[in-house]
Amino acid sequence: MMGGQNNDWMVASRMSKSLSLSLVVALAVAGSSSLRAQHRHHNQIAAQTKNQPWMNASLSPDERADMVLKQLTLDEKIDLLHGNGMPGWGTPRPNAYLGNGGAGFTLSIPRLSIPFIQMSDAAYGVRMSADNGRYSTALPSNLGSAASWDLQAACDYGALIGRELRAQGYNMTLGGGVNLTREPRNGRTFEYMGEDPVLAGTMVGNRIKCEQAQHVIGDIKHYAMNDQESGRNEVDSIINRRAMRESDLLAFEIGLKVGDPSAVMCSYNAVNGDYACENKYLLSDVLKNDWKFKGFVLSDWGGTHSTVKASAAGLDNEEPEDLFYGPKLKEAVQAGKVPMSEIDDHARRVLRGEFAAGLVDFPIQKSVVDVEGGLKTARSIEESSIVLLKNEQNVLPIDGAKVHSIAVLGLNADTGMISGGGSAQVDPPGRPSAPWQSHVWFPTSPLKAIAAKAPGATVRYGGSEPAAAAEAAKGADVAIVFAYQWESEGMDLPDLSLPDNQDALIEQVAAANPHTIVVLETGTAVTMPWLDKVSGVAEAWYAGSDGANAVANVLFGKVNPSGKLPMTFPRSVADLPHPHLVTPPPGATGTEAVQKTGEAKPTFSVHYDEGVKVGYKWYDAEHKPVLFPFGYGLSYTSYRYSGLKLGEGSDHSVTFTVTNTGERPGTEIAEVYAGLPAAAEEPPKRLVGWASVALKPGESREMTVTVDPKYLSIYNEQKGWTLVPGQYTFLVGGSSQDLPLKQETTLN
Ligand code: BGC
Repeated sequence: MMGGQNNDWMVASRMSKSLSLSLVVALAVAGSSSLRAQHRHHNQIAAQTKNQPWMNASLSPDERADMVLKQLTLDEKIDLLHGNGMPGWGTPRPNAYLGNGGAGFTLSIPRLSIPFIQMSDAAYGVRMSADNGRYSTALPSNLGSAASWDLQAACDYGALIGRELRAQGYNMTLGGGVNLTREPRNGRTFEYMGEDPVLAGTMVGNRIKCEQAQHVIGDIKHYAMNDQESGRNEVDSIINRRAMRESDLLAFEIGLKVGDPSAVMCSYNAVNGDYACENKYLLSDVLKNDWKFKGFVLSDWGGTHSTVKASAAGLDNEEPEDLFYGPKLKEAVQAGKVPMSEIDDHARRVLRGEFAAGLVDFPIQKSVVDVEGGLKTARSIEESSIVLLKNEQNVLPIDGAKVHSIAVLGLNADTGMISGGGSAQVDPPGRPSAPWQSHVWFPTSPLKAIAAKAPGATVRYGGSEPAAAAEAAKGADVAIVFAYQWESEGMDLPDLSLPDNQDALIEQVAAANPHTIVVLETGTAVTMPWLDKVSGVAEAWYAGSDGANAVANVLFGKVNPSGKLPMTFPRSVADLPHPHLVTPPPGATGTEAVQKTGEAKPTFSVHYDEGVKVGYKWYDAEHKPVLFPFGYGLSYTSYRYSGLKLGEGSDHSVTFTVTNTGERPGTEIAEVYAGLPAAAEEPPKRLVGWASVALKPGESREMTVTVDPKYLSIYNEQKGWTLVPGQYTFLVGGSSQDLPLKQETTLN
């Protein structure tokens, strides 16, 4: 019966153990008498609901959660604090049929009108919809969406996922990844928002805000320092607190402030000696006390490793099972090892989340996903996410009316575009759920999209074998190579080069055709040994359900590209802070064992000695040249910056004018950076804000970016965020390495 859970959460579960058992039987038989019984039960609940004081939606989520908490038995409280299994995870539990086919669920409490929490992974779209008999839209990768720097796009992203979750019977997302790209080989880079905490935190926050507005519990993850997948269950991330607060944790802090998610997922790894899901500093001192987070912390799947320690540290909910937060938690309470006040705090947080996100007031109604609307949203987000990296002699945009012949090359460029794997994987339409970690190509055909843009041209597909592709490219007006790099959770990339001989493919096509354009479908940065030999390069990331049309719209100039890199593209892995990936020692425990038994201890460490110097801050400080800098991206028009003015005193505003000096309308993302006084001992500069402006040819606009004082501060362990008095330099321009406007000012 997996996946067949009734829409009406009030029908099922814990009125009493015996009743829910009889319900299993009744549902299995599905006879008319059981349906009548369900109806009667439904009516009783509906009548009850009206009189329950916490059903008054004008009360605050805190008041409502407190009222419910007072009614709960210890068993009911504990029911809120753990999952009940996940399809494919261990031995299915007897109550598995109550799940919706997603990654986890908590039980409902029908007598008190408290619904199930049905959780689904939803990084770039709702996962596992195919096995659920459903369909979901794949949006561009999270990293791709960060390249738009567009808050409205982030909101559209979240709202779409929120709607599709509910349509499929879910009321909680497990999306919201915001670990910083500290290690670009991290196999989950595509699930995150890049290397800068201000950009990443702001983008994920806007996504979560709009996702949660659809009455699903929003989530932010993986808290924290889960910056590589190698040995993720056993690695101890070592980093000093100031650096952590100013880098990875700042992204979470901003995401929480902007998005106010009701859930935080703690990560698999340990941080400075303690596993993240039993780390008092992370969960209590920072998250709950300093940031005043009112929602609940759930463990990553199998990331709980203790009962008493985890509870005291601030873990509220174990997923996906109850190895530590089921009978063991009850025993610990009865033995006085876990105080009831802790249990109450955990349960109150879960309840509060259900009220705050609207789960109680807006019960799930399964419905049909708006397929066309989803494709449109996916396409428009992708259009604003594509980053034009090279455009020699204006090879782009292609004039569809004038071009006679086009060669399209690259693996599957005739049929599809690649997507990111692991728990983020969205099922492609019409196919069953993809096995964990397999290459999934979405049915969005670059060949067809390109042919549609040039109806008078001969458009030929030449495959991916280098010699044959070069032969097909020879003599064509333009050759377009679609190159991919696949990534997934649970693995890191060995390096940043394109796999499967694609460098040779591009070299040989470029040697055969002087107008070669490369479209990259990658989850992170790639090296480009062929860069000097090609005319154009566009980074399309994992482009989503309608990626091919978005790419064609950019290649043919229907859309003027405006995306900017959310991460640095280094010249070589030798330039990374850790040229060699830090991997588990031989004989380490292994992910499976850790997750299934819960018994674990870190077996190796990664020392993040680069500290706050993540991404461009590292290359700036170390004076290392890069392939393409953070914030970089070309347009089919050009922009001029002028007229920088800084606010005075406590007014941290930065005003400047941007002019479109080219011949096409375009949107420019104007970036504002600050250099701190030498006494702050910080890298040369940091992003402190940005503004996006759409300009017609010749048009100018004055813009003001108001900088949050925190973004100008350093983190001091004793005093918290502190503005170091002294001379600050403000820099404005179109990329982290193209900042024509500069002005100094003294701040006290
Ligand atoms: C991943 C999480 C995911 C969970 C449930 C874990 O392996 O790290 O991001 O939400 O599985 O699928």
